[in-house]
Amino acid sequence: MSSARFPAPRTLGDPFSLGIASGEPTPDGVVLWTRLAPDPLAPDGYGGMPINPVTVDYEVAEDERFAKVVARGSAVATRALGHSVHPEIAGLAPDRWYYYRFRAGSTISPVGRTRTAPAAGSPTARMRFAFASCQSWSSGYYTAYEHLSAEDLDLVVHLGDYIYESSWVLARRGASLPPQLEDEAVNLTGYRLRYAQAKAEIPLQAAHARFPWLVTFDDHEVDNNWAADRPGLGVDVYRLPPLFRRRKAAAFQAMYEHQPMRLAQLPVGPSVHLHRRYGFGDLAEFTMIDTRQYRTPQACGDGSAVLDCADRYAADRTILGAAQRDWLVDGLAGSPARWQVLGNQVAMAQSDYDPGPALLLGTDAWDGYIADRNTVLGTAADRAAGNLVVITGDRHENYVADLRRDYTVSESPVVATEFTGTSISTGGDGADVTDGGRALLAANPDIKFHNRQRGYARVELDHRQWRTDFRVVPYVTRPGAPITTRASFVVQDGVPGAVEA
Ligand SMILES: [Fe+2]
Repeated sequence: MSSARFPAPRTLGDPFSLGIASGEPTPDGVVLWTRLAPDPLAPDGYGGMPINPVTVDYEVAEDERFAKVVARGSAVATRALGHSVHPEIAGLAPDRWYYYRFRAGSTISPVGRTRTAPAAGSPTARMRFAFASCQSWSSGYYTAYEHLSAEDLDLVVHLGDYIYESSWVLARRGASLPPQLEDEAVNLTGYRLRYAQAKAEIPLQAAHARFPWLVTFDDHEVDNNWAADRPGLGVDVYRLPPLFRRRKAAAFQAMYEHQPMRLAQLPVGPSVHLHRRYGFGDLAEFTMIDTRQYRTPQACGDGSAVLDCADRYAADRTILGAAQRDWLVDGLAGSPARWQVLGNQVAMAQSDYDPGPALLLGTDAWDGYIADRNTVLGTAADRAAGNLVVITGDRHENYVADLRRDYTVSESPVVATEFTGTSISTGGDGADVTDGGRALLAANPDIKFHNRQRGYARVELDHRQWRTDFRVVPYVTRPGAPITTRASFVVQDGVPGAVEA
């Protein structure tokens, strides 16, 4: 083994302009992340880094002042991965806070804080986490993350649309869009620039530095409403499957380069392994699922709401793919944890947009994949203590829904609960009560709450109760919004379905 060190250039500037992060906590460790980028929006996507590798040192300590360092090492940042590093730290004690920092050349990064999970199966009285999604940079400021950083949390879960491949309308007052971010991202340079644009935001950096994160993607990390090898309705030439696979490979690589993900999540060409489980003592198990890579293309069109789409019920349609579905069902059935948390992307609850007797349903969500929904919810129903709680992004709306075992059967029992968290910024300022929200509530008795403001969901759980607080900000097109709790709902142990607190 060579012990060569690769020195940082003396005129590097601030290599930590994209921040630092940690994630994927286990009882004995976490993965740390940073990407050296002194000029984050450099049009070539290399962040202002030279072609050479650079050695990045890291330290993990029990205290903020690094008096008691418990792990240190170095990683080599190379151009092949955009000068990102992902050191995996093992040998830490369970269920406690640690502090970490990096050094490149003579520059020391800010200090991050992270936390290991309780030992597998160990008695764990309580945990708190937040979940977030959908942060179109051009749609608004990341004010919600300023407030999230001030919360008392053990974990942050991100459910996708961390970037958007397109800028759409620039709704941020006072902001401007550099020319290299005007076009839709279709290659590695384009996706790197989208991540750099998001990661350069100070509120997002602060939230990463404060807590470990567990991250997945949805569609906009690649292309609107993509499904396996089928692109959405974006740039035409990418509708050729081989070109779309190249596009996915670029998008997945850029995601890995910018997230605190373990080596197991390093993409191999147009494939990345994102369905994974993280335990939290005897209290909770987080199962992150992937509803994009293995799905059958949307039924009856591109995923928009359609009437009378019989294809939704086809037994061979899948949103998970057979291998992931079996893995999920086995895991749910075999887990001894009190709460099964499903980190999901698109809505699982039936959401009828027709005010009358007809069903007007979006087929990009689980409404387009009835067979898989019935399998998952059937598993929840069959468990003795079936505390399945699904957390969902995608909608840019807050809502609460009871999940029924089979929506085609009248009086089918409630077997699980879904909390959908709104966007951080996508959709702009939003509104509390909307006509669309009223209509959705009227047409769907199992949907109990609807709100279209921006924010995140905060969750506190113990062995008796799960509580979700919907934290919202009144505007995002200018900075500085305050935060309030718009509504709170609870689920009791052994009683699926939510009740307003
Ligand atoms: Fe979104």
